[in-house]
Amino acid sequence: MTVLNVNGQQHRIDVDPRTPLLYVLRNELKLNAAKFGCGLGQCGACTVLVDHEPVFSCILPISVLEGRYIRTVEGLGSEGRPGPVQRAFIEEQAAQCGYCIPGMMMRAQGLLEHNASPSDAQIRDAMAPNLCRCGTQMRILRAVRRAAKAMMADAGTIRETAK
Ligand code: FES
Repeated sequence: MTVLNVNGQQHRIDVDPRTPLLYVLRNELKLNAAKFGCGLGQCGACTVLVDHEPVFSCILPISVLEGRYIRTVEGLGSEGRPGPVQRAFIEEQAAQCGYCIPGMMMRAQGLLEHNASPSDAQIRDAMAPNLCRCGTQMRILRAVRRAAKAMMADAGTIRETAK
């Protein structure tokens, strides 16, 4: 039995501890945002955050994840209340086929949690491990910029409210 903290909820998982996280998210927990692309840690479709760091969930066994904080796109917001990264990707129409987008959003979220105001070069560098075969990279770049501004504005509002 492995206990996983996913999006703030504890889950007791009764599968082989060598099972990659992606399979547990999709098959056991029915969290289908993270996608299977290559299964080899090469495309980024399966990217989720573990303790604020982006990881390829297709190659990460759940045995190393007890006590860690796992987040998926489902944890960033909901259809009715999308989070800032989700809103930015929608507003910039960053998706074409959309398959890579959940992984892109999680990598962007991880970047913005470490660097609230990244330069374009830093965004490109951070997003490089995630592939988009449709060619929407420029829209994705704009979405990450927009999300950074929205998150900084939200943080400013929270600071003002707390005064
Ligand atoms: Fe995990 Fe491609 S499916 S990196």
